[in-house]
Amino acid sequence: MGNKPETILPPGRVLGIESSCDETAAAIVENGRVLLSSVVASQIDLHARYGGVFPEVASRQHIKTIQAVVDQALQQAHLRLSDLDAIAVTRGPGLAGSLVVGLNMAKGLALATGLPLVGVNHLEGHIYSAWVYPAEAAAPPPEPQFPLLVLLVSGGHSELNLVTGHLKYKRLGGTLDDAAGEAFDKVARLLGLPYPGGPSIQKAAAEGDPKAFPFPRARLDNSWNFSFSGLKTAVLRTVRTLESEGRTLPVKDLAASFQAAVVDVLLTKTLQAAQMHHARQILVAGGVSANRALRDAFLSQKDFPVHIPSLSLCTDNAAMIASAGYFRFALGQRDSLDMDAMPTWPLS
Ligand code: KG4
Ligand code: ZN
Repeated sequence: MGNKPETILPPGRVLGIESSCDETAAAIVENGRVLLSSVVASQIDLHARYGGVFPEVASRQHIKTIQAVVDQALQQAHLRLSDLDAIAVTRGPGLAGSLVVGLNMAKGLALATGLPLVGVNHLEGHIYSAWVYPAEAAAPPPEPQFPLLVLLVSGGHSELNLVTGHLKYKRLGGTLDDAAGEAFDKVARLLGLPYPGGPSIQKAAAEGDPKAFPFPRARLDNSWNFSFSGLKTAVLRTVRTLESEGRTLPVKDLAASFQAAVVDVLLTKTLQAAQMHHARQILVAGGVSANRALRDAFLSQKDFPVHIPSLSLCTDNAAMIASAGYFRFALGQRDSLDMDAMPTWPLS
């Protein structure tokens, strides 16, 4: 199986800007793959006290940091704006007030430099994070091959897509209630673990028994949809029962058992969908793809080659936007200065 891209695309260096939620990020990527710089200013500490992202605080913080983040991305890459070919920016989905900050920055830069402006879907960005590798790499890692079955699991989305070529998506299904990351965040709160819940659960689970509590696996047979609310309720009920019995919560076992149930459902459904849709490979992306147990589960199965972004590119970043933006730019997309934010914007 070769690793040649299906179309020969022109070279291009793209500045990506991302501000859809609580990370202000800028990055420069060459030819959609080579990471020249990536800067992420996280607001996690600001939002932790609210137990989740506070939208107005997020947009105000983006305004404060975005100029410095973009400057730093250029400095790290030892490049000037005149060395770039395009500016890509997250257009949606995300928080309206946050998206507008990145969009305005990108528009200002495009206006001042005459560089083309390209709007990118944040979910598409997560998928393209798997194309990116560091400039220092000895050799390029293999490029994902189409048709590709993509499991996208983040704080706001959980979906299965069949990707038949660059920028060609067919949504097979998604969550009927909570996104996988949202379930991690909510269950962490139930267990008294800090925000964001994913990394906290992973840490607690590392010392817990995944078989301690047989939590339900909602497989929703004959559909590619997910549901995590039943699992969340099962954890809640168990916590209430243990508390009413005056027992100390076995947080590590609860975290490990919850994580095992999520991983089991995500792995099983993705493999089934890949088989059914004759996918060549699997790609797992989005914040939850940083989860060690999920990565191990996918990497240890033998049915399909799997691509998972490097850890720093799983959660929100701008390299993924620069990469997706490159493919859009190379395939001819140009957006105008009146491009508006799209807080709700399905991938397909
Ligand atoms: O992709 P992302 O950074 O933002 C969205 O687009 O939503 O995903 C954030 C989500 C959060 O819900 C967070 O708890 C989850 O990803 N997450 C994890 C891990 N790291 C981040 N979930 C499980 N295990 C992790 N290690
Ligand atoms: Zn994201």
